[in-house]
Amino acid sequence: MKKYYDADVDWSHIAGKTVAVIGYGSQGRAQAANLRDSGLAVIVGVRPGRSFEAASCDGFSTMPVADAVRKADILAMLVPDESAAEIFRRDMLPWLHDGQTLVFAHGFNIHYGQIVPPPNVDVVMVAPKGVGPQVRRLYLEDSGVASLVAVHQDVTGSAKQTALAFAKGIGSARSVIMESTFADETETDLFGEQTVICGGVVNLMKAAYDTLVAAGYEPEMAYYECMHELKLVVDLLYEGGFTKMHDSVSKTAGYGGLTRGPRVVGPKTRAAMQEILAEIQSGAFAREWLLENQVNRPQYTALVRQEKESELERVGTAVRRIISDGK
Ligand SMILES: NC(=O)c1ccc[n+]([C@@H]2O[C@H](COP(=O)([O-])OP(=O)(O)OC[C@H]3O[C@@H](n4cnc5c(N)ncnc54)[C@H](OP(=O)(O)O)[C@@H]3O)[C@@H](O)[C@H]2O)c1
Repeated sequence: MKKYYDADVDWSHIAGKTVAVIGYGSQGRAQAANLRDSGLAVIVGVRPGRSFEAASCDGFSTMPVADAVRKADILAMLVPDESAAEIFRRDMLPWLHDGQTLVFAHGFNIHYGQIVPPPNVDVVMVAPKGVGPQVRRLYLEDSGVASLVAVHQDVTGSAKQTALAFAKGIGSARSVIMESTFADETETDLFGEQTVICGGVVNLMKAAYDTLVAAGYEPEMAYYECMHELKLVVDLLYEGGFTKMHDSVSKTAGYGGLTRGPRVVGPKTRAAMQEILAEIQSGAFAREWLLENQVNRPQYTALVRQEKESELERVGTAVRRIISDGK
């Protein structure tokens, strides 16, 4: 994987250009602020409402999406992936002009053919590997969140240099900019979300909690052991990998994990991971999610409600209250 740092980026590819940040949510707010602090002219394109108020309040020239598209050289697509195709078709496509650069923060809509840009614009990806508030916080600490960059369409001959400069503008060159493709970023991102970050780990915690509670242990204790303490290990892994984890946890914990972990995540889980990856690669997951959005997300809404109203969530709220009361 090719990597780029500050000295590898030629700022002249973006200097003096106007960036329109389309959408002012988690990434939009952070990236707009970082790009402005990096010296670029930034305007914000959003619909009337909360985001419009927030962007104006933060001192940005804020306008409808179509107006921002007409005025800018670089367009950062920072709206939710499930709404992006509609916004693109309605508010952007008619006003795109030669030489502009479309910047995506995730490959989903290009990779799955939901957005097909016209042939007269550059299309690149700058995907930060962190949530919006972290993109802003690290930038303010003279650091940055790593980003993946990729080029989908290069009309001007300098699409990659523009992408690298944009990544530098949001702070990523202070960490690392890694070259990838829209396909790889999309598929690995979805796979990580589903099998680990939002799927695998969460369900592992639920199953472990249920096992302890069914065996008669106190729910609060089960919550502490199976959910709350995960943060300690995640922090250690983030800072120094398995080495730091094993240097920090007890040998009993380390031995138990090394010998029992593979029984928990065994061949069945690995087979399920293969199936899930195949659904992502074939586009089956994308199709399912896009159709779910077309009918206003009934399944998603019901599942989120069930999770929010679960016994586990009630116990978690109580545990956090107990901890904060003690402070
Ligand atoms: N969340 C992350 O940290 C993260 C990390 C890496 C990459 N990404 C990528 O970054 C992109 C943006 O994600 P995000 O999480 O920052 O999105 P988000 O927080 O959900 O941002 C929503 C923004 O889009 C606007 N919006 C929503 N629907 C709209 C519509 N129909 N018309 C016009 N504006 C609309 C919202 O305006 P209103 O207030 O008016 O609804 C709001 O300003 C996505 O491609 C995502 O995959 C996100």
